[in-house]
Amino acid sequence: MKIVTIAGTRPQLVKIATVSRVIREEFTEVLVNTGQHYDYNMAGIFFEQLNIPKPDYNLGVGSMPHGKQTGSMMIKIEEVMEKELPDAVIVYGDTNSTLAGALVASKLHIPVLHIEAGLRSFNKKMPEEVNRVMTDHVSDLLFTPTDRAVDNLQRENITKGVYQIGDVMYDAVLYNMELAESKHALNEFGLESRDYILATIHRAENTDVEEKMKAIVDTFLTLNKQVFLPLHPRTKNKLASFNLLSELEEASNVVISEPVSYLEMLLLEKHAAAIITDSGGVQKEAYFAKVPCFTLRDETEWLETVEAGWNQLINPLENNLSNAIKNIEPGHYQKSLYGDGKAAQHIVDKIKDYF
Ligand code: UD1
Ligand code: UDP
Repeated sequence: MKIVTIAGTRPQLVKIATVSRVIREEFTEVLVNTGQHYDYNMAGIFFEQLNIPKPDYNLGVGSMPHGKQTGSMMIKIEEVMEKELPDAVIVYGDTNSTLAGALVASKLHIPVLHIEAGLRSFNKKMPEEVNRVMTDHVSDLLFTPTDRAVDNLQRENITKGVYQIGDVMYDAVLYNMELAESKHALNEFGLESRDYILATIHRAENTDVEEKMKAIVDTFLTLNKQVFLPLHPRTKNKLASFNLLSELEEASNVVISEPVSYLEMLLLEKHAAAIITDSGGVQKEAYFAKVPCFTLRDETEWLETVEAGWNQLINPLENNLSNAIKNIEPGHYQKSLYGDGKAAQHIVDKIKDYF
């Protein structure tokens, strides 16, 4: 059986590293990289560090407005599918690469396998929400990370082909944490355990709104702990265009860094006193590391982390982040929230049953 896997962005590479290892024990995999992320520290380093096989196709699409980007990917993915004639296509998550792969495969009547199906923010202004809903509705097998995701799908009358197998990002953390600790040390970053706050920002709803970015920067400057901030290129560009980058660079308590590798990130998460983020993946990794998380959004697809008391939603404009951080009260850790750490194996088992 031949499976085409669509890669494109940083978080997809983390997930693919975990699942492809198991997929390749049973099936032939053709890896297609759309090139949505292309900087070495957003893509190349993940291939190298996580031993992701070299892509069979590099589509080199890169950064563009949504329609042009998704359309360009579709044109090129269609050519690959027509050449490879796969039995199934795997797409991950909710990016434009996900949607492009799912739409092309669906129109060619190739079964679509969606990993991380059923997540909803119920905010259609997020491009990711549109991508998720569309992808789920053309998918044949839907692998969900949580029970809530199954309920979300049921509410949209999607019940066939839905399998709750847990979160592949939990598999990834279990597989890589020891390696992270053996390869990297916190003092490489000039940081001490529990003495810094790790922050990542990249959501368009934050980066593209000047007053939100200003409020976030102002808050970082008032925190009484060191802030370690690996900057996503989107965020760096926006901070510069709002004239906020130099303020951050000059702040004595803020360390700005290029995006870090996955293994470095796991280590930084594990030793942080708290994490501030708007990333989906980082919210869960904070939970796995038992580090309190503050999510700079009005809603989250990972509500279990909030219910368990480890994650707080904070609107940057409401200016209550500093107070929240001063009053951290960690919740109780429920190990089973995101599966048994064998999600990738469960996916392969279900694919074997289906075909
Ligand atoms: C994308 C996904 C988002 C995901 C995130 C993971 C969509 C709609 N969004 O957001 O769901 O959470 O990836 O990180 O698919 N850029 C570079 N170099 C790169 C990549 C991006 O400079 O290697 C800059 C470009 O200016 C680009 C901007 O970042 O325009 C945004 O990149 P893009 O891939 O469009 O969206 P992300 O914000 O990365
Ligand atoms: N990540 C990383 N280096 C960084 C920031 C994030 O390796 O500098 C990892 C993080 O540990 C997680 C994934 O990238 O595994 C999350 O990706 P991102 O935040 O870009 O996207 P999202 O999860 O929000 O879609």
